[in-house]
Amino acid sequence: MPKITYVLADGTRREIEASKGTSVMEAAIRNNVKGIDAECGGCLSCATCHVYVGEEWLAKLPDPDPDEADMLGFVAAEKKPNSRLACQIKLDEALSGIVVRVPPTQS
Ligand code: FES
Repeated sequence: MPKITYVLADGTRREIEASKGTSVMEAAIRNNVKGIDAECGGCLSCATCHVYVGEEWLAKLPDPDPDEADMLGFVAAEKKPNSRLACQIKLDEALSGIVVRVPPTQS
């Protein structure tokens, strides 16, 4: 199963395994990862699943689709080049080991 490491706002690391096809947001919610609220449940209307993707993993992700790109304009924390919405990152073996950082405003 793919692994994800969440780096929380306080620097704590949480490593979680999730089934292929699960989103980084769903895995966080199921495992009570602090700071990923996902208020809209993954329908791209809240931006409370904002994460910073580890630079080394960015190239492995498809570019944000237009709806994700629009919603990234509404994140509460600073938007950075590696900002993504966790609900739009679907896990597979190629992404096993991905590291995402939770923005400080989402602690
Ligand atoms: S969970 Fe709402 S935009 Fe990702």
